[in-house]
Amino acid sequence: MSVQRTSGPVAVTGPAIRVHELRKRYADIQAVDGVSFEVQRGEIFGMLGPNGAGKTTTVEMMEGLRVPDSGEVRVLDLDATRQASALKQRIGVALQTAALYPNLTVTEIIDLFGSFYRRSRPTQELIDALDLGERRDAATKVLSGGQRQRLSVALALVNDPEVLFLDEPTTGMDPQARRSLWGLVRDLAARGTTVVLTTHYMEEAEELCDRIAVMDHGRVLELGTVSDLVSQRFHERAVRFTDVPALTDPELAALPGATRVVRDQGTAEVWTRDVAATIGGLLALTRERAVEPADLAVRRATLEDLFLELTGRALRD
Ligand SMILES: Nc1ncnc2c1ncn2[C@@H]1O[C@H](COP(=O)(O)OP(=O)(O)OP(=O)(O)O)[C@@H](O)[C@H]1O
Ligand SMILES: [Mg+2]
Repeated sequence: MSVQRTSGPVAVTGPAIRVHELRKRYADIQAVDGVSFEVQRGEIFGMLGPNGAGKTTTVEMMEGLRVPDSGEVRVLDLDATRQASALKQRIGVALQTAALYPNLTVTEIIDLFGSFYRRSRPTQELIDALDLGERRDAATKVLSGGQRQRLSVALALVNDPEVLFLDEPTTGMDPQARRSLWGLVRDLAARGTTVVLTTHYMEEAEELCDRIAVMDHGRVLELGTVSDLVSQRFHERAVRFTDVPALTDPELAALPGATRVVRDQGTAEVWTRDVAATIGGLLALTRERAVEPADLAVRRATLEDLFLELTGRALRD
């Protein structure tokens, strides 16, 4: 896939980003340990992983803000380390923890950031896009957490970047603001902007990202579309019901087709290769015991199941 941008200053072919064998160490921590991938133009690329996985370090090397120990990062055909200042004009960055000038108002800070670039989007347009109209004259220090997040995205867009980096952009946003940001990101990508984002929200990765990389301990564990990654690993489905304590683990595990049993917080899940046989066996067993499995349902594996299997941790740990 290669989406050409029509309004950009320089036509670039090939991937927007190429990261090869990237490594970065902090004292005794190997934060990034041999990461390689490519991101295509116009793609929305998501990076997931537990706290400390190395996402921010990787993203900051792509932004030219951190110098890798070894490996290569090319963004828009520029070397992100050696050509960082040329790159800066053409990328947008929303840091995970942005330090904003506390006494400037929303309008003033967007104007100020715009003045750093040769080319900038009108302040009003950015205020509208991020729904900051009601807070336009508020000092940044009094903004709520979600409003600050929206402002840092507005600032990242000020130079109409060809590549946009968003580090946990929707953390702290209410559901409406989150959906609205997804819409904005989709529109940008449809116009050819390349977007790299990190997230701890599965729904965000599933709904928004064309491809994701799951990282842990500085490495990419899996990379691909969400549906490919999930279906490659899980051919099974789960028969789930409100747990019946009278049934033992071995009894559930012995149901026809069953491959494993997961019981958690009052819900039982029997993973199976044969849904019909498992449900038939379950109903026979519960009838025999004169109990009833309430809220019987079947579900497919989700990104969270994949994440748990890969990292042994839940996304929000
Ligand atoms: N400036 C630094 N000095 C020392 N260690 C650091 C520094 N920045 C990050 N680290 C360490 O490097 C590892 C990777 O951190 P990084 O911020 O890249 O993780 P992350 O995947 O973004 O995590 P999170 O989901 O919490 O944002 C962590 O163990 C972290 O403690
Ligand atoms: Mg981070």
